[in-house]
Amino acid sequence: MHPLAVIREQLSPLFQEYVEDPTPFLEMVRPAQDTKFGDFQANFAMPLAKKLGKNPRELADEFVEKLQLEGICESVNVAGPGFINFKFNSEWLISRLGEMQQDERLSIPKAEKPETIIVDYSAPNVAKPMHVGHLRSTVIGNTICRILNFLGHQVYGDNHLGDWGTQFGMIIFGYKNFLNEESFKQASVQELARLYKLVNQLSEYHQLVAKVPELKSKIEATAQQLTDLEVKIDPKDKQQRKALGKLKNDLASLKENLLSAEEKIAVVNGSPELAAQANAHPDIARLAREETAKLHKGDVENLKLWNQFLPLCIAAIEEVYERLDVKFDMILGESYFQPFLGNVVSDLERKGLAQESQGAICVFHEGNEAPFIVQKTDGAYTYATTDLATIKYRVEELKADSILYVVDARQGEHFKLLFETADKWGFDKIDLRHISFGTVLGDDKKPFKTRSGDTVGLESLIDESIQRARQIVDAGDDSKPNPELDNATRQEVAELVGIGAIKYADLRHNRESDYVFNWTKMLATTGDTATYIQYAYARIGGIFREVGADRSELRSDTATVVFTHEAERALGLQLIRFAETIESVVSDYRPNILTAYLFETANSFTAFYGHCHVKNEQDPAIKLSRLVLCDLTARVFQQGLELLGIQTTDKM
Ligand code: ARG
Repeated sequence: MHPLAVIREQLSPLFQEYVEDPTPFLEMVRPAQDTKFGDFQANFAMPLAKKLGKNPRELADEFVEKLQLEGICESVNVAGPGFINFKFNSEWLISRLGEMQQDERLSIPKAEKPETIIVDYSAPNVAKPMHVGHLRSTVIGNTICRILNFLGHQVYGDNHLGDWGTQFGMIIFGYKNFLNEESFKQASVQELARLYKLVNQLSEYHQLVAKVPELKSKIEATAQQLTDLEVKIDPKDKQQRKALGKLKNDLASLKENLLSAEEKIAVVNGSPELAAQANAHPDIARLAREETAKLHKGDVENLKLWNQFLPLCIAAIEEVYERLDVKFDMILGESYFQPFLGNVVSDLERKGLAQESQGAICVFHEGNEAPFIVQKTDGAYTYATTDLATIKYRVEELKADSILYVVDARQGEHFKLLFETADKWGFDKIDLRHISFGTVLGDDKKPFKTRSGDTVGLESLIDESIQRARQIVDAGDDSKPNPELDNATRQEVAELVGIGAIKYADLRHNRESDYVFNWTKMLATTGDTATYIQYAYARIGGIFREVGADRSELRSDTATVVFTHEAERALGLQLIRFAETIESVVSDYRPNILTAYLFETANSFTAFYGHCHVKNEQDPAIKLSRLVLCDLTARVFQQGLELLGIQTTDKM
């Protein structure tokens, strides 16, 4: 058991006489901020004493008296208003390190009750190339799969592709009207992507042209309201000041919308070819939608085209997944579930859950104005219907105990309604969870775009990262490449550094926050980056090459750790905390807990390596102990990064 679990296990029954559920109090046992006082600190005595109307210090003393940590903790003290400080016995820590050395799993236990867990992630809408918006779901979802697999669960990583949506209508329309046959023969996917972009651009053009006068009159009206209010405002009136602020904001965002609309319109008008195409197809948006509708109704020609396009689109995204080292257990896109949708709706109706409202079939939920629409007025099924059919399939065919949806925070409302509907529909035993995440932003704090305003393609992002990593590898430690590496190896290293940097930069942020994409920060060789940890790993590889030690011997019980310096003990304790880290990552699916742990471990290692000789240590027992610590550190880095989908190398 890891140190924190030992403390919690001891504390847990002691709460019995005070509270029903000790969980929130047990969560108040944490690693100590200041290691002067101990290794862990418990802060629950203050809130608990308040609740019970007791003296917190006395309460803390009561707990400490009853604890039985002889042989485990060297000291347990109460400090200040009632903090309990735990300091572990070094011998006890050393035995835990001994167990870890000999355990392939580095003391991370398998789940007591393995479950069948579906991780629904990545899920791009195919037919358009993958872009930076797909990065987060792909990287976070893949990490969750890797960790759950490692814990012994039955995991199905499922790529729920958007392969049946309106984008296919756009491509089909493009194919029928704007195809360049030569390009299609040579590079079909690129040609399809061009067609998608073109049809999208022309549809948007007409919508924007129609919207501009409306925007202008709204701007005029808002500006007028603003002046009126400014004239009569009473500066002491809070309500009025608030209204003024709101008007100013509204005006600014309306102006921004107008500007962006005008820019997009100008792009089309500025190109004779685009302008001619736009003029020739004023109704393009409706016609593209009709192509989608025809496809959905089983139109032979459109189905044939769809069947021809889909494999091409999938092959294109698979190239990206391969570069990212992401493998799915299944790819069951939206199209797979189409045959089941009619039954979903009729079943919901039969059970009295769905009813007609303004021509659409809807499920209403109390406290929610917006209904969950499962069939539209024109008879079409929706994203929601597909998701319901998918839940049924996953429960009945895959025997899922839980489904994790790694999807953008903007779909929060959809999942809330989906989960409520599924629950009422009879799928109330399955644990459904939206693992939501924020947006990748550019320097301007807006969604990350290229200079021309396009979304950033994932392929080109990967290329650039590898290129930049190559410069770092070529620069080596002192402006020349590591002489141990030939050209081909340097390229391999650049690839794992470049890919690692992108993944790590994404994973290290709290998934719910937005983050700013920054090349310099994410490829820094010191700091909270994959590169830093990969370098630390390679440095340990270098130590072993120089010493010529037999690493398998370091994993047997003939090699023991001794603490002769505070830095050795600190590193040892940090290493033992690997199991605690993984446990807390999965408790709320937060990979940033693992990156933070690896970063701290790299810092502990750097401190240890700065204070303690390894190669030149004269005392053979101390040298052996330090080599064991090096070996364990390297294994924690390798295993930790692998769980994040990031590779390591012995030489950099
Ligand atoms: N294709 C969807 C999108 O791009 C994401 C799908 C997420 N998964 C799901 N089961 N709804 O927005």
